[in-house]
Amino acid sequence: MDSRRQVSSSAVRAASPGRVEFIGNHVDYNGGRVLGAALNLGITATAIPRTDGRLTISSRGSPAIYEGIPGDNEPQSGQLSWVNYPLGIMAVLAEAGYVLSRGLDLSFTSDLPSGAGLSSSAAIELATMEVLAVLEGFELSRTEKVLLAQRAENTFVGVPCGILDQAVSCFGKEDHLVCIDCAETTFDTVPLPPGLHFWIFNTNCKHSLVDSLYARRHAECREALKWLRKEDPGLGYLVEAGREALHSLNRDPDIRRRAEHVIEENSRVSACMEALERGALDTVGDLLFASHASSRDLFENSTPELDALVEILEEYRGSGVVGARLTGGGFGGAVMALTTDAFTRDLADKVVAVYGERHSKAPTPGFLHVVTGEGTRLLD
Ligand code: GLA
Repeated sequence: MDSRRQVSSSAVRAASPGRVEFIGNHVDYNGGRVLGAALNLGITATAIPRTDGRLTISSRGSPAIYEGIPGDNEPQSGQLSWVNYPLGIMAVLAEAGYVLSRGLDLSFTSDLPSGAGLSSSAAIELATMEVLAVLEGFELSRTEKVLLAQRAENTFVGVPCGILDQAVSCFGKEDHLVCIDCAETTFDTVPLPPGLHFWIFNTNCKHSLVDSLYARRHAECREALKWLRKEDPGLGYLVEAGREALHSLNRDPDIRRRAEHVIEENSRVSACMEALERGALDTVGDLLFASHASSRDLFENSTPELDALVEILEEYRGSGVVGARLTGGGFGGAVMALTTDAFTRDLADKVVAVYGERHSKAPTPGFLHVVTGEGTRLLD
């Protein structure tokens, strides 16, 4: 690294958005292609250099403040466990030779609803990376930032996630979807047909073991690949296997179903890109609903609450709903609905009311109308 790097002596601010996973459920760590959208909501990070060599990390709305020194990257727990996202970034930067030269106050604000599965963690990671890179003069490409952020999550936070959340937050573009080729680690944007909207319906229900269930699915996909490689040693990723190869997984129906989902979901992503290009919204909608059904039946990462919301939204296809599916890791969280202008707040209220009638014991879902936004950027 250049020791003459340009360090900044004044405050640096950056914003990084939340995301919706549009289609491509659990295909990112299996070498497939995924489509996601950055939102106009997200995280803002502010870094102010200090002269006493100390490091503080705080967040508006959270009373606990982390106090330490740069380089002392000990994982935190309890009220401060969220600090592991920025600390993880500092740890992976240091491992890659990008060591902080001085102390700073790092603070965050957010307008993302918490717990809705819109990936505030990736937004914190990318916003942190952005302010530190400018403050310290680290020259990092956007791809390097995404890969370092994913590494922070894998190694420091301990979640074996793929690259989707970090890439969409970084490369997002208003009125576009981000298309990620996870095998090649390349990123592109594709325009969204005009007049489309996203609605997020949060079930307010989440499995208590969501991280370990995610890790279990990740391990099952690795297992499927291991068995498939016995027949085809040249197989690079699970998505490369053809449907005809699935018979070799018959001895374990769970593993077979996971692989079947991943392979078919990856084909749906390609089909969806073609349909978007043609403006064939009916086909896009069919693919979104098919994606949800596959997550429910084959990957088994849905919940009765998510299924109920998708089912009701499907009944509103004639009233502006294009498609709907669970978004993100699953095991609770939120449903994403893609709609035209015809879908209004009154209809969204109705969806929630129908849900309440049919599932009176479940918590009332919250909903949010969101639009696409720009990826990680410096402010001011
Ligand atoms: C979470 C992970 C992503 C991806 C999705 C499921 O959002 O962080 O890497 O695996 O789940 O597609």
